[in-house]
Amino acid sequence: MRLDPLAYLAAELDSLKAQGLYRTLRVLEGEQRARTTFDHTSVVNLSSNNYLGLTTHPRLRAAALTAIERLGVGSGSVRTIAGTMAIHMELEERLADFKKTEAAVVFQSGFTANAGTVSSVLTKDDFVISDELNHASIIDGCRLSRATIKVFPHKDVDAARQLLRALPSAPRKLLITDGVFSMDGDLGPLPALCDLAEEYGCIMMVDDAHASGVFGANGRGTVDHFGMHGRVDIQVGTLSKAVGALGGYVAGRRSFIEFLYHRARPFLFSTSHPPSVAAACIAALDVLLDEPEIIDRLWDNTRFFKAGLQTLGFNTGVSESPITPVIVGDGALAMSLSDRLFARGVFAQGIAFPTVARDKARVRTIVTATHTRDDLQFALDTFRTVGLELGIIHG
Ligand SMILES: Cc1ncc(COP(=O)(O)O)c(C=O)c1O
Repeated sequence: MRLDPLAYLAAELDSLKAQGLYRTLRVLEGEQRARTTFDHTSVVNLSSNNYLGLTTHPRLRAAALTAIERLGVGSGSVRTIAGTMAIHMELEERLADFKKTEAAVVFQSGFTANAGTVSSVLTKDDFVISDELNHASIIDGCRLSRATIKVFPHKDVDAARQLLRALPSAPRKLLITDGVFSMDGDLGPLPALCDLAEEYGCIMMVDDAHASGVFGANGRGTVDHFGMHGRVDIQVGTLSKAVGALGGYVAGRRSFIEFLYHRARPFLFSTSHPPSVAAACIAALDVLLDEPEIIDRLWDNTRFFKAGLQTLGFNTGVSESPITPVIVGDGALAMSLSDRLFARGVFAQGIAFPTVARDKARVRTIVTATHTRDDLQFALDTFRTVGLELGIIHG
């Protein structure tokens, strides 16, 4: 009889259970909304990246349905063979315009945009200088490129300078940061990093996954927020979070985008979006331009909720964005906080090692423009009850 080569996995899962870190997937039983039902439980949802509520916006829904009627449900090929539809090109033109760059290219996800871009721009003779908290997709792109990876402590521009100073001359150096860091909600020090990139001749790249639709005029991202137009060579964004649909994009110079057409492996070897997704993303850009008051509502809610958590005495770290962590340290405690919140009608995901450092486990909250004040007050009251119960805060 064949021995099961995957038998070791049972022990791995038992070990996660013993540490209180074993998770089951929460199942959403309706639309992705601020108040909704997961696992048969009605909850205030503080776990989605649906910052502006666009997943269910009528204009996006209508655009997607029309595209299905006109163009079908699939693109049928990778972009470089038969899968470039006019609607993909239209979306890319709209994104370039929105980001104020010469050109843009869309990938299947933000993950593949980052991994595909970093791995195609660098070779084994090159260097990448990367913030220690950059997203996993950047880290994977760095590894795939086989370039030498130099990691600087979080947001430490002086340390990045020391690393650059010590490098031998190389064909290419890529300096890379997240615009908004997804677990802490703080901003990358973009102006200082742009100065550094110019000083050392680096390609400057920012991953604005959590900044697009949130920061800058009409949600143009951190490049716009900091007034860095023209100083960032590669801007990555996602269409899966504030934009409400699915995908990732790279915006920059036309020559760079054309280079990616030839070298970025997810672009070359994976089928393009269904036309309905591209149509929904175009409609989302229209909404960002026509209805900027949605972004104002997001920020009003963010200020209210963050201040509420802080007044209760929770450690919310260094967040500057709608992502507000409630840092408790121990992984099992974070999971228990999350579970008890859920049982009382608030969904805020527990996050532990390896997603964050072992002693920085947390519950991560993300408010959206579509939460009502009642939703947020209910969530704060529930955080208070459970925080007291678990001894995280004290009366
Ligand atoms: C900072 C950051 N970059 C990239 C991504 C990947 O984006 P997507 O979900 O579109 O693949 C994420 C999201 O999970 C993220 O948080």
